[in-house]
Amino acid sequence: MNATDFIVLRDDLQQCKVIETQLPDAATLPPDTLLVKVTRFALTANNITYAVVGDQLKYWELFPAPEGYGNIPVWGFGEVIASMHPGVAVGEMLFGYFPMATHLVIEATDVSKRGLRDGAAHRQSVAPVYNAYARVSVDPAFAGRQGDYQALLRPLFMLSFLVDDFLAEQDFCGARSILLSSASSKTAFGLAHLVHTQRPGIRVVGLTSAGNVDFVKSLGCYDEIVTYDRITSLPATEPVAYVDMAGSSSLRETLHRHFGAQMKYSGQIGLTHRGRRPDEPALPGAKPTRFFAPDQIRKRAKEWGPGGVEQRFGAAWAEFAPRLPAWLEVIERRGPAAVREAYLDTLNGRIPPNQGLILSLAE
Ligand SMILES: NC(=O)c1ccc[n+]([C@@H]2O[C@H](COP(=O)([O-])OP(=O)(O)OC[C@H]3O[C@@H](n4cnc5c(N)ncnc54)[C@H](OP(=O)(O)O)[C@@H]3O)[C@@H](O)[C@H]2O)c1
Repeated sequence: MNATDFIVLRDDLQQCKVIETQLPDAATLPPDTLLVKVTRFALTANNITYAVVGDQLKYWELFPAPEGYGNIPVWGFGEVIASMHPGVAVGEMLFGYFPMATHLVIEATDVSKRGLRDGAAHRQSVAPVYNAYARVSVDPAFAGRQGDYQALLRPLFMLSFLVDDFLAEQDFCGARSILLSSASSKTAFGLAHLVHTQRPGIRVVGLTSAGNVDFVKSLGCYDEIVTYDRITSLPATEPVAYVDMAGSSSLRETLHRHFGAQMKYSGQIGLTHRGRRPDEPALPGAKPTRFFAPDQIRKRAKEWGPGGVEQRFGAAWAEFAPRLPAWLEVIERRGPAAVREAYLDTLNGRIPPNQGLILSLAE
């Protein structure tokens, strides 16, 4: 039996293709190995960022591809179609990190009632979260359309949750407004929603492109929306905290020079605009720093104890998730040609922000 993989040229992400690879014979799988059919996965700008930093953060190591190419990791669902692990049955549904492919072989380890890990040697250089699979067959929150929203947003909302928690703990570094670039992105509006609903006294300002203003307005969680060409019209007299999803050096420089010492925090999260210059000058105001989610998780895991992060995150997600159908339409696409088109549209910023792509390489 053959598998289908979607791969991209690592140093030119516009070049992509579909290849066929040979699947191992189910009967000869080594002990504890699972053969998983990837049934559906989400694709957003976040996955493009995985590709952009694939070498640096070792994402390319997760799902090996032919020389020079990479298979971009995606969040989604897989069904176990063959199992050599006594604790995992054929037909089980897993949620986690998959390749853009029809199949994945997993070396099941740390199998518990709620999940398992892929113990494959080539996957161990990334944070543990990327090798963990939740067993979701009997969890209604992961079924049908609810499952699509989980794939589209849950991993992103974890970042929104952690940034909100970090900033609140620092009392927003003295700022009374938070500025979010790529305000239309799922990660940004998750954070905007948390600050808007939980942090009285903090104004949420969304920075976005002209074409996305209406969508950002419709979310109702930004107090003010400013297009990128008008950011210097913001009053520079009040202290602000900047949370950057766009990753544009020129935007960051303009904001820092405009706000000067009033720029109290400058956190680098995303790269949606892929406009980072390697030679960024020193800027006035707070020093731009990369927000590293695993650090905040580790800190809170220690302080909140076992299950503390999951419990608080679960409560935040339960409040957020029911709002999603009003904001995001799920668009399903199947087959190699549709996946290729969806990938190139995502890479080139052609997906309207009110659409969430759920894809499958199987026809
Ligand atoms: N560090 C972490 O741990 C972490 C975790 C989660 C997310 N993130 C990052 O947060 C960012 C947002 O991810 P997401 O999945 O939430 O994004 P998304 O929902 O797919 O964002 C779509 C928006 O991003 C901007 N955009 C996307 N592609 C573009 C392009 N080619 N050119 C210009 N603008 C483009 C546009 O917003 P505007 O018009 O409003 O700019 C667009 O509406 C990503 O860079 C992601 O990697 C980082």
